[in-house]
Amino acid sequence: MATHSSYFIISFLLYYFDVVNSDILCETGFCSTHMTNVGCAPPAANCRINNATHTGIWLPSPTICNCCDYCMPLFGENQNCAVGGPGTGVNIGRCGHGLTCEPSGDGAGFCARLDSKCHRAQDDFDDRYMKGETGVLEERPSCDGKGNYNAVSCIPTQTCFCQSEEGERLFGEVLYMGRRTKESLHCGCSRFHDKLRRIISPGVPLPIVGPRCTTDGSFNPIQCLNNICHCVDTITGEIKNGYGITTIDLREAPIANLSCYNRNLDLFPDQSTGEPTYNYTTPCLDKMNETIHYILQSEKDGFDMDYFTTVSECLPDGTYGRIVRTRNGTKMCVDDRGHQIENYQAEPHTPEYESMDCKCALTSEIMATSAEKPVCCKNGNFRRIQCRRGLCRCVDSDGRQEGPHSASVTSLECYKEDWQNC
Ligand SMILES: *[C@@H]1O[C@H](CO)[C@@H](O)[C@H](O)[C@H]1NC(C)=O
Ligand SMILES: *[C@@H]1O[C@H](CO)[C@@H](O)[C@H](O)[C@H]1NC(C)=O
Ligand SMILES: *[C@@H]1O[C@H](CO)[C@@H](O)[C@H](O)[C@H]1NC(C)=O
Ligand SMILES: *[C@@H]1O[C@H](CO)[C@@H](O)[C@H](O)[C@H]1NC(C)=O
Ligand SMILES: *[C@@H]1O[C@H](CO)[C@@H](O)[C@H](O)[C@H]1NC(C)=O
Repeated sequence: MATHSSYFIISFLLYYFDVVNSDILCETGFCSTHMTNVGCAPPAANCRINNATHTGIWLPSPTICNCCDYCMPLFGENQNCAVGGPGTGVNIGRCGHGLTCEPSGDGAGFCARLDSKCHRAQDDFDDRYMKGETGVLEERPSCDGKGNYNAVSCIPTQTCFCQSEEGERLFGEVLYMGRRTKESLHCGCSRFHDKLRRIISPGVPLPIVGPRCTTDGSFNPIQCLNNICHCVDTITGEIKNGYGITTIDLREAPIANLSCYNRNLDLFPDQSTGEPTYNYTTPCLDKMNETIHYILQSEKDGFDMDYFTTVSECLPDGTYGRIVRTRNGTKMCVDDRGHQIENYQAEPHTPEYESMDCKCALTSEIMATSAEKPVCCKNGNFRRIQCRRGLCRCVDSDGRQEGPHSASVTSLECYKEDWQNC
């Protein structure tokens, strides 16, 4: 209750200031008068130059009514910065993205790179790059302004996939189509699921169903809560009010009636046929719901239930996963609609069955029309050695190059006599 009312007060104050600002003091013409009478200090040139050593960000000026242009300089690595504190004067800039102000005595300081896993990975890459030890298809790790991993990691010529802030691979993969691919991929939904799993889920006994994602890790344009479905922004997941029907009630109409409905993204179109009530669910989510109800009922009846081993989670797109077990016990790799990919499978009681991850099978399916698909093992995993245009390299289970490439497979670190079979 307390937080609720303070939230209300804060919004009220903001509203109040807004009114004062725009309607009474900062009326039309205020700025031109103010500028003739008082004038503006010239903004730092950093924002206009924007080269490797001179950068800055435009901000609303701290002057009354924001009349002037204002540029806050961003200091580069090893440049001076003030640490702050009493008597240190006005701080007119700050260290750039990924940098932090390290004190060097007397309130002075210099901008140093934040120590983080991603920055260490970059340093390692740079180190090897200088020695000529990086691979042709190895990408320099890219970090965000806080030193965390960016949301997307690419294997040039192959695919790009979503990753967490710690650099772990997440759900969501698309075909690599040049450097631009990275900018078009956002992975917001996939990262949301990852956060749910790491931050909220450990504190609650039953799995939480997050928003529905599409195969590229974005938000599915349709999100439902109970019977009400909305069109949302695929990048932010926020409810979108646009043209046409953007909200429906499944008790009256199917999701196919929404203006944002895209048949290609609907993995279960049968749910939009027939009579109401319509559904927007998946076999995996249904199964999970059923299990949860069963557990809750059993608890009510006085049984002790072991949650974590009994409720298996679904992928962020609502499917069971990309590995399915058939009736005779064989496991096979499937796509998002449950169709087997090529002939990738593994028999029980074999090492191939235990280690099966289908990552190569999925990458290879995404690259269906490409002439340079990776070579996969029979169980759909990446073969340790991949070759392209006369150069061979070792790859990890995600298909990422490890170490330098070579024209001769025998000189590779991961070389084994039967390297062609796996
Ligand atoms: C950036 O621009 C400034 C001002 O024009 C110049 O002094 C500086 O040398 C430039 N830095 C680089 C790396 O080009
Ligand atoms: C849903 O769309 C179909 C086909 O356009 C239409 O016939 C039907 O009346 C719509 N249903 C509702 C409840 O709007
Ligand atoms: C929706 O689910 C209910 C319960 O599982 C089922 O009876 C109904 O036929 C489904 N509706 C459609 C259109 O598939
Ligand atoms: C979950 O299952 C219960 C009972 O099995 C059912 O009443 C409920 O509607 C289901 N919820 C969803 C979202 O499917
Ligand atoms: C199990 O079934 C799959 C097809 O569903 C088949 O390809 C495979 O050979 C079968 N395995 C055995 C051991 O019969």
